[in-house]
Amino acid sequence: MLGSLLVRTAWWSLLGLSLLLGCDRAPSAQGLPEWKPGDHHSADDPAGGGQSPGQAAPARSGTDIPALVDVAWRQDCAKCHGPGGHGDGPQGPMLHARDLTDPAWQGKVSDADIAASIRSGKDKMPKYDLPDGVVQGLVARIRALKGG
Ligand code: HEC
Repeated sequence: MLGSLLVRTAWWSLLGLSLLLGCDRAPSAQGLPEWKPGDHHSADDPAGGGQSPGQAAPARSGTDIPALVDVAWRQDCAKCHGPGGHGDGPQGPMLHARDLTDPAWQGKVSDADIAASIRSGKDKMPKYDLPDGVVQGLVARIRALKGG
């Protein structure tokens, strides 16, 4: 009874696996032609809602910013500050990376202070020449770590 249940479970998971692998190998054709040049708003596009082209650019790159923040955090900051910001990354203890979750420190610094530390570096921390939106995203991420 139990044996046949196990066999059946194994069979189903194999089936699931082969379905997954099948998807991997054969990207569905219907997923491809999503984007058309016409999808781009041109400057005189009435659907642009009166936005100037200058406003459209940051809005578009804005969609990439959370991804950039995530990559910067995981590839750079986490080396020292650790994935959760506790200062426990591989190089954290050696360089005395700050525990960014510390509520006392969080209460002391302004968002502008945090942004300035990221842009200019501090002591053993290198400076990061990142786009404004990414710096702001990192500040928000650090704020979200408070007490965590
Ligand atoms: C090479 C290690 C290292 C890396 C990488 C690093 N830091 Fe730091 N960070 C430190 C150290 C060390 C300190 C403590 C500096 C001090 O207070 O003297 C610090 C301090 C800070 C502070 C506090 C500054 C203050 O005002 O007290 C913030 C905020 C910070 N890091 C954010 C970041 C962010 C965001 C990144 C990624 C973009 C990052 N750090 C990457 C080592 C690092």
